[in-house]
Amino acid sequence: MTATSAPVDTTTATALGAPVPRREGREKVTGTALYAAERHLPRRAYAWPVPATIARGRITAVDTAAALALPGVLGVLTPYDAPRLGPSDDPTLQLLQDPRVPHRGWYVALAVADTLEGARAAADAVRVSYEAEPHDVVLHEEHPGLYTPEEVNGGYPAHREHGDPDTAFAAAPVRVDARYAVPPLHNHAMEPHAATADWDAGRGHLTVYDSCQGTTVVRTVLAGLFQLPEDRITVLAEHVGGGFGSKGTPRPHVVLAVMATRNYGRPVTVALPRQHMAATVGHRAPTLHRVRLGARPDGTLTSLIHEVATHTSRVREFVEQAAVPARVMYAVPDSRTTHRVTALDVPTPSWMRAPGETPGMYALESAMDELADALGMDPVELRVRNDAATEPDSGRPFSSRHLVECLREGASRFGWTGRRPPLREGPLLIAGGVAGATYPVYIAPAGARAHARPDGSYLVEVNATDIGTGARTVLSQIAADALRVPLDAVALSLGNSALPPGPVAGGSTGTASWGWAVHDACTALTDRLARHHGPLPDGGLSASADTTQSAKQKSPYARHAFGAHFAEVQADTVTGEVRVRRLVGVFAVGRVLNPRTARSQFIGGMVMGLGMALTEHGGLDPAFGDFAERDLAAYHVPVNADVPAIEAHWIDEHDKHLNPMGGKGIGEIGTVGAAAAIGNAVSRAVGRRLRELPLTPDRVL
Ligand code: MOS
Repeated sequence: MTATSAPVDTTTATALGAPVPRREGREKVTGTALYAAERHLPRRAYAWPVPATIARGRITAVDTAAALALPGVLGVLTPYDAPRLGPSDDPTLQLLQDPRVPHRGWYVALAVADTLEGARAAADAVRVSYEAEPHDVVLHEEHPGLYTPEEVNGGYPAHREHGDPDTAFAAAPVRVDARYAVPPLHNHAMEPHAATADWDAGRGHLTVYDSCQGTTVVRTVLAGLFQLPEDRITVLAEHVGGGFGSKGTPRPHVVLAVMATRNYGRPVTVALPRQHMAATVGHRAPTLHRVRLGARPDGTLTSLIHEVATHTSRVREFVEQAAVPARVMYAVPDSRTTHRVTALDVPTPSWMRAPGETPGMYALESAMDELADALGMDPVELRVRNDAATEPDSGRPFSSRHLVECLREGASRFGWTGRRPPLREGPLLIAGGVAGATYPVYIAPAGARAHARPDGSYLVEVNATDIGTGARTVLSQIAADALRVPLDAVALSLGNSALPPGPVAGGSTGTASWGWAVHDACTALTDRLARHHGPLPDGGLSASADTTQSAKQKSPYARHAFGAHFAEVQADTVTGEVRVRRLVGVFAVGRVLNPRTARSQFIGGMVMGLGMALTEHGGLDPAFGDFAERDLAAYHVPVNADVPAIEAHWIDEHDKHLNPMGGKGIGEIGTVGAAAAIGNAVSRAVGRRLRELPLTPDRVL
């Protein structure tokens, strides 16, 4: 199935599964959709943060005289005079509270002025003196600081072992023992992080427009930091220009904006320049992988060992769960999946689209390709041979698992011909590659309200955040479907912490989590309306839902989405340039609720995988302790000319063990495995294994 481009009549189209265009599409393309920095409140001021210029040490003095002498400057906050903050679980938000510098780019002051330019000039004029200490930003396998944490991101145990994988590996007739490296990667959403905060001292109310993935959590965190009751804070995020995880937790910009509005009594906007983002909004931590696979000559895996080393910062422990997908993919009796981490003088890593799965599946699926080579076996058949009937780590049955169907369907659509020597076209070597994909199904509790108005229209309220995914549209479809009314009869309100609490747009949970609450509220309203006789009262009728009970219920099933990627690449033997010619992805994600927005999620994820494979690289400069690539001139995301023909398809998957809509999350799986498929194709084209991303010409030649 693929999206059709046929127009959709939204006066009648209600059914889930219709390719409804984004409801806010016109607002976005006409520039009337307002983002957080575009709230032109009266007397608005601007704040510009000052990043540390050492990688480790402490501030000894801050000279603000030159900054304060500039026209229109309201003040400069420093660790010596900034308001004291209340507690937060996330220490990266304890800003301007003490003179320590845990990494380069850590904020050490905040300049506030009448204009954006004035604030920036004042920030530049702040003179900070430091006592620098030696720093260490380089992760390597033998780093003395590496330790095994208790848990990794997502709450998974860091270490799992079944049977005796070392003995099984040593005894395996066919073995692969390979090391892979994925560099730090940056989220770089189109809209850099921004917030406009307005403290109304008279009312005692704080209003914050924030570019974030969820306003409920931002409100909770701000309440703690600024010691305000939650009902005195409203956080709004009506339109958000992307996040990819970097806006999944509250970020420094919003704390600084609130600090400034509270301190100066004027609305304040903090809009981060893109160059600050690498150091302040999280990144995908680098991962070093050692994967050992043992197999019988027929391809049956007998041992799987996936060991990951990664970094975190000295501020907060975040451990990329890159060995976790190996607990899901293949049936192997003897296995070890384990993580080690070291705290370096680096910015704090965090979520980036499919944390764990993305780098983990690059390594695992590259190793599977190497094993196919060692066996002389078609890599599609190798994966099919090792398909798991139950979840390998837990023994639980899958709610549904159609990896094999994705591989078969992808092979047929792509025209897969097995392991073949590359074709040659002049200086170009051309080959294909394949990789599997998986992403877990998570669900989080949410609330929603639905109102029927006397004029026949409906208002549905849910604190979802549409970060560009189409959430607003698909939630409206879920509502219209449950209410059994045309889509145009339903207005949807979201992105507001005053609505019933909702989880962040993250972990590919949004549609299932918010959608479940919308479904329940609308179903309850439909029941109410059915029992109601005569015209509706002036205030209409309402119903609400809270999925805390249903969403928290532990499923007896292992629930994961699966997929397969096929890539055709060309490698230039003269320049070393790799170009992807074709990408085909096939996914098994339960019911697809809107093929248009779903396709957009899949191909967006695949493009992100293309960038990871070929161009994206965050390099920590050992001397300066800094990310060298901090803007889109240096950090190379794919541009249109890099993106080939991409096809995203999905199979009809009916899974009763998910949620009332029957869909698995789709926001992240598109990126999982895409880089491995491309890497496997490149290795086949050049006839040599490349194990370190990105596959830039210097590595390919
Ligand atoms: Mo996404 S990395 O789960 O926000």
